[in-house]
Amino acid sequence: MDRTDETTHFGFRDVSLDDKQTLVNDVFHSVAQRYDLMNDLMSAGLHRVWKNIMINALNPPRGDSPFALLDVAGGTGDIAFRAAEAAGSGFRGTVCDINSDMLAVGRERAAARHLDDRVSFVEGNAEALAFADRAFDGYTIAFGIRNVPRIESALSEAFRVLRPGGRFLCLEFSTVDVPGLDRLYDLFSFNVIPPLGRAVTGDAESYRYLVESIRKFPRPSGFAEMIGAAGFSRVNWQSLSGGIVALHSGWRL
Ligand SMILES: C[S@@+](CC[C@H](N)C(=O)[O-])C[C@H]1O[C@@H](n2cnc3c(N)ncnc32)[C@H](O)[C@@H]1O
Repeated sequence: MDRTDETTHFGFRDVSLDDKQTLVNDVFHSVAQRYDLMNDLMSAGLHRVWKNIMINALNPPRGDSPFALLDVAGGTGDIAFRAAEAAGSGFRGTVCDINSDMLAVGRERAAARHLDDRVSFVEGNAEALAFADRAFDGYTIAFGIRNVPRIESALSEAFRVLRPGGRFLCLEFSTVDVPGLDRLYDLFSFNVIPPLGRAVTGDAESYRYLVESIRKFPRPSGFAEMIGAAGFSRVNWQSLSGGIVALHSGWRL
């Protein structure tokens, strides 16, 4: 990818697209070992419910028909493991992530769950995937796309690697619009999450970035337009937990 003078957000700061990726990589190198524990603490376990809703929407075949899933920004493997456990023997999952530390934790978890024959881990950038055109039946990305500097590139890569009839699903933090809940959510996000991050991972700044980056992500209607612009059809989204999270979907037809 060529260097560019274009800027984007790293949390509330304006940074170049390349600097954003370097800063994001530092965040996930720093938190990799305690990433899964922090997810449970920050969301009071709710991330498990949101992820299961995504797997239900993916609806991988329960039998032996082949189904190839690409889980991008898949980190420590949560989505791919859930899909493998819901699917039949024809399922193969590929977790692609730019961060070797997150992937290393994922590989250990796959071995511990005896899923290492069905789920593999590949280092790569969502903006330039090293996979053939039309290679996958499903593409998932959970809590990952807002970390990617060039979101449009990641979406067109998603479209390219899906076969016609393939499903695109993206779980991402969204915009809380419920009066009362929005203020509570802000208080919790800015006053509880960074100190919690410091206590658990020794790193408050990374969690400050995660909270700020949520506020900078497009509203669901704007993000749905971007998914449509990448070529997807029947683009839709479902708001979860008062808008804390949205599940976006589309089909390559
Ligand atoms: C919040 S974690 C999500 C992990 C996992 N999907 C989950 O839901 O638990 C975000 C992940 O995005 C990855 N990431 C950031 N930029 C990326 C890029 N350009 N390409 C691929 N992965 C990226 C990070 O390394 C990190 O593992």
